[in-house]
Amino acid sequence: MRVAFVGKGGSGKTTLSALFARYTARQGGPVVAVDADINQHLGMVLGVAEGAPPRPMGSHLTEIKEWLRGDNPRITSAAAMVKTTPPGRGSRLLSLDPADDPVHARFSTATPDGPRLMVTGPFSEEDLGVACYHSKVGAVELYLNHLVDGHGEHVVVDMTAGADSFASGLFTRFDMTFLVAEPTRQGVGVYRQYREYAADYDVPLAVVGNKVQGPGDVAFLREHVGDDLLVCLEHSAAVRAMEQGRPFTLEDLEPANAEALGVLLKHVDSQEKDWERFGRQTVEFHLRNARAWANRAIGEDLAAQVDPDFVFGPTRVSLQR
Ligand SMILES: Nc1ncnc2c1ncn2[C@@H]1O[C@H](COP(=O)(O)OP(=O)(O)OP(=O)(O)O)[C@@H](O)[C@H]1O
Ligand SMILES: [Mg+2]
Repeated sequence: MRVAFVGKGGSGKTTLSALFARYTARQGGPVVAVDADINQHLGMVLGVAEGAPPRPMGSHLTEIKEWLRGDNPRITSAAAMVKTTPPGRGSRLLSLDPADDPVHARFSTATPDGPRLMVTGPFSEEDLGVACYHSKVGAVELYLNHLVDGHGEHVVVDMTAGADSFASGLFTRFDMTFLVAEPTRQGVGVYRQYREYAADYDVPLAVVGNKVQGPGDVAFLREHVGDDLLVCLEHSAAVRAMEQGRPFTLEDLEPANAEALGVLLKHVDSQEKDWERFGRQTVEFHLRNARAWANRAIGEDLAAQVDPDFVFGPTRVSLQR
């Protein structure tokens, strides 16, 4: 199951991604946490020592593409593979259990509560909207497009702030998207926009209130987002202490906040996997991307990369093994 945390800058995407990943890993089953944000901060909240981040995927795109394309005859070279190039027959697919392929082995690192961390690598605010940023985040899109995950296996992605997450097909790659919102007018300001995008593409979305300080805050969120409000996390003294550099384990988290993480996990796990939607949108975004810039950039008609007989989902993995 794939989960994205989106929302306004500073709302708590990174904090909640990390807490959710740690909580989920404690329940058993593999968890991969992916840092796709501008400020690469997720490792810190997962408890990774500074100076020990994993190898950044965004700086090794060619190597990743070379592995993923396998001997798919429709992808002539790693250079012809763009972030939206879909897997086809001959492509190598990734699995979380066991995550023993070279992509996981080379680009992830273990963290204290069990999640494995993968990162796009740092990029700057100026990179936003330009090729560099999109190609780095493209590593996550490629990864998710080739991943066959099931129930009891979780990938958690900490996304960039604001609506930029909707600039590519990436936002359609998840079984659940959590919009983190603080109980302020600004906090709920982007909600309508996200909701419309999500509805247009059948993307399951739920709002998670954060830094809530009482029933008035919950009522405010309820008033603005209605039934989309799934659960709220309170302002956490334990999180604050962690940010101040004190040691932190999940046991330090306030019981109400731990319970809220349980609600999130239950909600994710109650989703049906929709491989049909996943496959259809993978192809749809690739064709759109090909027309918009990729055909020109690569000098090939990339629509030919789509394998009409490829079936997305677990069947292909069992054939591969
Ligand atoms: N429930 C909480 N209780 C206390 N502090 C919190 C809570 N959630 C987040 N914070 C704090 O709020 C600040 C912003 O959180 P965080 O970095 O997770 O937000 P973000 O949405 O990832 O921000 P950015 O858009 O900059 O990536 C951090 O200092 C974090 O420790
Ligand atoms: Mg962040």
